[in-house]
Amino acid sequence: MEKTDSAYTPNSLRRLATDAEGQQITSTPHRERSRPVFLRVFAVSAFLFMFFTGIRHVSRTGLSRCMGDRLHRNIASLPSHYTLPSGDKIPSVALGVWQAKPNEVGAAVETALRAGYRHIDEAWIYRNEAEVGKALKNSGVPREDVWITSKLWNAFHAPEDVESALDDSLTKLGTDYLDLYLIHWPLARKDGQPYDKDLTENPYPTWQKLEEMVEKGKVRNIGVSNFNVRRLENLTANPLKITPAVNQVEINYWFPQPDLIKWAKEHDLLLEAYSPLGGTGKVGDTLNVPEIKEIAEELGMTPAQVVISWHVQRGTVVLPKSVTPARVIENLQVRALPDALFEKLEKAATSHKPYPRLNPSKGWGIDFDIFD
Ligand SMILES: NC(=O)c1ccc[n+]([C@@H]2O[C@H](COP(=O)([O-])OP(=O)(O)OC[C@H]3O[C@@H](n4cnc5c(N)ncnc54)[C@H](OP(=O)(O)O)[C@@H]3O)[C@@H](O)[C@H]2O)c1
Repeated sequence: MEKTDSAYTPNSLRRLATDAEGQQITSTPHRERSRPVFLRVFAVSAFLFMFFTGIRHVSRTGLSRCMGDRLHRNIASLPSHYTLPSGDKIPSVALGVWQAKPNEVGAAVETALRAGYRHIDEAWIYRNEAEVGKALKNSGVPREDVWITSKLWNAFHAPEDVESALDDSLTKLGTDYLDLYLIHWPLARKDGQPYDKDLTENPYPTWQKLEEMVEKGKVRNIGVSNFNVRRLENLTANPLKITPAVNQVEINYWFPQPDLIKWAKEHDLLLEAYSPLGGTGKVGDTLNVPEIKEIAEELGMTPAQVVISWHVQRGTVVLPKSVTPARVIENLQVRALPDALFEKLEKAATSHKPYPRLNPSKGWGIDFDIFD
């Protein structure tokens, strides 16, 4: 390899070029002077061939593109996993399955596992755990190779309800343990009843039951979802045996939450970005943001890949949902954005007014804002 490269150094090219001028050479070493004519003709032809091939390549690809590729190759790659306090490694990109309908969610999960996903983000309330469980079995991927998250629904926060709710998820998913179990929302309320104010404000009894599930081996890691800093501090003010490993929250271009990301990093809490593309109904707007389109074009990526890469580069787990096979595959092809382009997207996302999308408080008829 080195030998071939040295044949392209400017000096050897210059020497060949001078050779082409024949008689002018006066200081040519004896060995070269005595070369047979056919060797000289061969050398000149080789030089001309390389020279014109090089010009053709540069004119097709553009010099800056060649140099750009080389620059982009020099940046660090994205983490494929994060390590939780338990020591478990959680894959940084997951397939989300909320709103994935019956008879399509199973195929999406199988496509994802074939494409290389090893993380599925589920919840009891998505009502598709059984189909996902079947797909996990059909895929042939060993259980221990896939990270499965599910979530405890609001109706089951009373300590006496936690284990049966978890067992129901385990049965449907066809597994005897979850890698991660989250309190889905900071709201303790059985269907049709007023919410339990004390348990909502301080979910320590629910958490103790989750700790028990870890001790029993039914769950490997526990965490929360949709908790703001006040609620996290309320919970962790209790004498916890296990602190929350994860907080799953809305994070996307429209609601980038830089302060929460900073706080989470300072408190060793991993964030998971849900609705990372903006969520159904908003994804089109996200993928049309000029900065995202420009970065995608510059790097030869799709806008969705740029956004998903940006999330991982910010240090969060990212949970894009898709039931479209080509998109499922597309969304896993992430790579680090060069610093300047990462900063360009970060600046664009954090310069506009924050626009959170998901807030079920009114729909649930509760007399407080779930995010207060
Ligand atoms: N903890 C919580 O309270 C909570 C709340 C919301 C979401 N989540 C989790 O986060 C996951 C993702 O959130 P989300 O579904 O709200 O939003 P999302 O992933 O931001 O957006 C999903 C939408 O984007 C489309 N899409 C996906 N990839 C695409 C691509 N490459 N190009 C164009 N369109 C693409 C999907 O369409 P197709 O499916 O038709 O391809 C779907 O309509 C959920 O599935 C769930 O696991 C959790």
